[in-house]
Amino acid sequence: MAVLPIVTYNDSVLREKAAVIKHLDDELKALIDDMFETMYNSDGVGLAAPQIGKSIRLFVIDGDVMMEEGEEPFGPTAFINPSIMSKTGKNIPMDEGCLSIPEVRDKVFRPETIRVKFTDQHFVEREEEVGSWIARIIQHEYDHLEGVLFIDYLSAFRKRMHKKDLEEIESGNREVSYPVVSKS
Ligand code: NI
Repeated sequence: MAVLPIVTYNDSVLREKAAVIKHLDDELKALIDDMFETMYNSDGVGLAAPQIGKSIRLFVIDGDVMMEEGEEPFGPTAFINPSIMSKTGKNIPMDEGCLSIPEVRDKVFRPETIRVKFTDQHFVEREEEVGSWIARIIQHEYDHLEGVLFIDYLSAFRKRMHKKDLEEIESGNREVSYPVVSKS
């Protein structure tokens, strides 16, 4: 297993629509292992393949640290070729961050509950209905496969608030506790 460098927000790979994965093989399993290791190394709760420079429909999550009392643990899970079947419940605000946009956090409104279909790390096809933080993380990571970042949802005012941070990340001058690649 290996910790892979994470690309930062101005990298064009984060703006691509990721490709469907055709082969479920050992190479993919090894990549998933590396992505889990990379995510844990940076204390993240989710990591999408475009963030390590691979434009394919895959992300990993482990949101159990965010669990509130009475919630069932979801466990570390890989999502291969996921599709979000439905979104229900109110749009609720929650604080989001992204390993590709270090130290920038802001509130994003998203539906409370989703139904998602995917193939997991054991290559088992699953369909799950999830809420709370797990639904939040899945929607954030799914957006990465569509070339969307959480800052895209912010108002012009909120974006201006983060302008300095974004410029620092873009120039590669931000100190980050995990390996990153900056574009410039
Ligand atoms: Ni992200």
